[in-house]
Amino acid sequence: MIWAVLPAAGRGQRFGGDTPKQYLRIAGKPLIEHALTALLAHPRVAGAMVALSAGDELWPGWSELLGKPVLRCTGGNERADSVLAALRALPPQVGEDALVLVHDAARPNLRGEDIGRLIAAAEAAPDGAILGAPLRDTLKRAGRGRIVGTEPREGLWRAFTPQAFRRGALTAALAEAARAGVAVTDEASAMERSGVQPWLVEGREDNLKVTTPADLALAEYLIGRH
Ligand code: C5P
Repeated sequence: MIWAVLPAAGRGQRFGGDTPKQYLRIAGKPLIEHALTALLAHPRVAGAMVALSAGDELWPGWSELLGKPVLRCTGGNERADSVLAALRALPPQVGEDALVLVHDAARPNLRGEDIGRLIAAAEAAPDGAILGAPLRDTLKRAGRGRIVGTEPREGLWRAFTPQAFRRGALTAALAEAARAGVAVTDEASAMERSGVQPWLVEGREDNLKVTTPADLALAEYLIGRH
């Protein structure tokens, strides 16, 4: 049984404005609804656990979507805290060895073909797998606004979501990072700390995370091309 976990407890300070970015709308629906329905439309995904901020008044209150259960819990101060809370709140039928797909609520343009390829890789790999893409730009090191070096980009990838891991292993890895006071910005980095090497599955570059108003405009354009 595979469940989706959506951290959606961010307040979207980097985007600006009053509306947390997961509730900004494109093509008539909030970003979180695009993300949730993309996941739940996949035949292997049985349900979703959404982490919301305390006092979230914008959550539409779904208990199911596309005929599959949608559960909610309260997230934490950082994204990793929200993911950990959601993993702990999953129903007991989601076993320790069950795969979970952790996906940002602010990534609306996820395609089923990428979900399928990620699941296939993670099922074949005990260490899990994530979607990502190789870096295409030249990388500059900056010092006080000036270029102080050019970094080799060979072997460097951008990390996307979903990220697919076994529920028990990921819960333990995130709890250990929290105990150690180490900030992790994705699930793979928590797993890497426990010495494993998750697989990188090359995903579509249009699976973008909405962080700025320009991203929102681009996401709206991309959704329209589905
Ligand atoms: O801020 P960032 O773009 O990294 O957020 C990625 C996802 O993590 C968003 O869907 C956001 O709502 C979520 N998040 C969360 N809890 C936090 C901070 C962010 O669930 N404390």
